[in-house]
This record gives sequence, C-alpha cells and structure tokens, in this order.
Amino acid sequence: MAEDRVPARVPKKIILDCDPGHDDAVAMLLAHGNPDIDLLAVTTVVGNQTLPKVTRNALAVARIAGITGIPFAAGSPRPLLREIEVAEDIHGESGLDGPMLPEPSFDLDERHAVDLIIDTVMAHEPGTVTLVPTAGLTNIALAARKEPRIVERVKEVVLMGGGVHVGNWSPVAEFNIVIDPEAADIVFSAGWDVVMVGLDLTHQALATPEVAARIAAVGTGPAAFVGELLDFFGRTYQDAQGFDAPPVHDPCAVAYVIDPTVVRTVQVPITIETKGEHTLGMTVADFRAPAPADCRTSAAMELDHGRFWDLVVDALERIGETPDTGWTPRAAAATLTDPENADTAVTPEH
Ligand code: BDR
Ligand code: CA
Repeated sequence: MAEDRVPARVPKKIILDCDPGHDDAVAMLLAHGNPDIDLLAVTTVVGNQTLPKVTRNALAVARIAGITGIPFAAGSPRPLLREIEVAEDIHGESGLDGPMLPEPSFDLDERHAVDLIIDTVMAHEPGTVTLVPTAGLTNIALAARKEPRIVERVKEVVLMGGGVHVGNWSPVAEFNIVIDPEAADIVFSAGWDVVMVGLDLTHQALATPEVAARIAAVGTGPAAFVGELLDFFGRTYQDAQGFDAPPVHDPCAVAYVIDPTVVRTVQVPITIETKGEHTLGMTVADFRAPAPADCRTSAAMELDHGRFWDLVVDALERIGETPDTGWTPRAAAATLTDPENADTAVTPEH
C-alpha cells in the first residue's frame, strides 16, 4: 500500500577531489559503493605524489572498483605559491604502493579539473552538490576564484584536512593544509559551509586487525585490493609515525556526507596560518567562546568507529566482484611466478 512505502532517499551528489593515495582510494570505493552517494566526478591534484602519478592511480582504482560513466579530470600540478611536497614516506614512490595497479580502462575528461568542478556545480540545482576534497585545496581554491558563483551554489565543502589539537606534517599542521596553505586559506574563508574532517577525527579511523579481517571476509577482488593497500599503509604508518594500526583518513569525509551522525562535529571559527615560521598550515580553531551565529566552519571531533567501518565493509559488499579489473592480487601473482613456492616468489613491481 502506498502509505506503507518508505520515501526514497535522494542520494547526495558529491565531487571527490583527491590525490590517491591509499586512503583516497578507500574514499573512492566508499563513495562508489554507498547507495546514498551520487558520485558526479573525480578530480585529482598534486599531493601524495605528483599529478601524473595520482591521476594514474585514480584511474586504476576506478577500474578495480568498476567506476564508469563519470568524468575524471586532472587538475593542478603544483600548489598556488609553494614548491611541491609529496608524502612518499607514507604512500610510496607511486603514491599507491603495495598492490599492483592495472592500466586505466578509460580516458581522462579533456577539461582541467577546475573547469570540471565549476561546470558540474553550475549544471546542478543550487544547494545540491557537496565538494569533498581529500587532498591539498589547490583545485578548490582555484575553482572558487575562477567562478565565484560556485561558493553560493555548493551545498557544503566537507574536506579531509587540518586538525584542532594535532598535526602530522609538523607538530601543528596536517599535510593537506600545509602543502598549500594559501589555497586552504581561500577555501576556509570563502563564505561557504566548511566541515573540517581533520586529524582529531581521522586518527580514530584505525584499520585494526579486526577491521582488516572484516574486509578480507568480504572475499572479493576490490576487498582484497583494499587489504593490500592497508598492509602497505599500516607498515609505513608504523615506521613513519609509530601507529600500531593505520588511520584511514579520507573516507571519513565521505562517511560524514553519507551519515553525519557517524561523525560528531562542533561549530567553531577556523582560520589558516599562512605565515608562521613554526605554525605554517595550522588550522587555528577559536574555542574561547561559543561560535557566532554566522560561523560557517566546523570541526569533526569524534568518530563512531564501528559504524564507520560498517559503511566501508557494506560498500565493498555492494560493489562485489567487478568485471575487467585488470588486477591480480599479490598472492596470486606470486604463485603464478613460482607455483612451487609462492612464499619466496619474486614480487612483481608496480
Ligand atoms: C592526508 O594526507 C594524505 O597523505 C592522505 O591521503 C590524507 O588525505 C592525511 O594527513
Ligand atoms: Ca588524500
């Protein structure tokens, strides 16, 4: 009967601006696999590695995840003012070290990422498109400058970056902010709503052994791919920052868009330090008084760890097996190389 019908939920339209990146790859899979997300476009920007590398990685992840029919575009090859800094100690020489990566199965959109972002936002109804940057904010800042009307039109910007009480690239600054602080300053002060999903929150998104076991139990190629990503990411986070389990930052921003109750946020004025000798890239949150009524920024502070990983596992289950991944798990590749002794087989290069 009609009155018993649950009204259909309208999926939330997002543009993912990323630098894959192990956690960016998981963010892509979550956005693709979750039915409450309508992934409109994927754009790339220099960050974890150079622009050609992260763009190639984005296309490889698309093939493994079975993402087709949406535009992918490459954006800025360097920050607005600063020299390029990449996160090779965390993401490796390719930017996505660990699993072997397939060749892309489709071509990039011909537009610059900044134009794709602008075109996409302007083509949809006002207040319907959320920007989800999980990398330096160069593309987003350039888009806001090139077409200021997007600032009014975008629903909100939910970004992974920054932190209130913690840094990772310096004692007080997070990588995505500090690699292009001028861009971050533009984005945080533009006048749209900004949700800062920073390290206070993402350091709770640990891929513990129990999480890894849940992902392995999904038993599909894309899930095995995530397992290989997390193996590598876990080792580098252990070596570089002493984590027992890696914090999987970027999908937290997507999880917030899917279900804001998974992430507790607090409204607080946030400004970006662009000059400090020791504090460059700090996201300065002013907790001295209740946020004023016109405050447009908020910070994510607390994650529901169980429900967050439920979303990731659910997305992988929904994605299932994908045709034409062009991807071979490491274990299978090693067995093919030396079927007598898979453990000692030469590991194929990227
Ligand atoms: C952020 O920096 C990058 O290395 C990750 O992909 C994430 O977006 C964490 O500081
Ligand atoms: Ca990232």
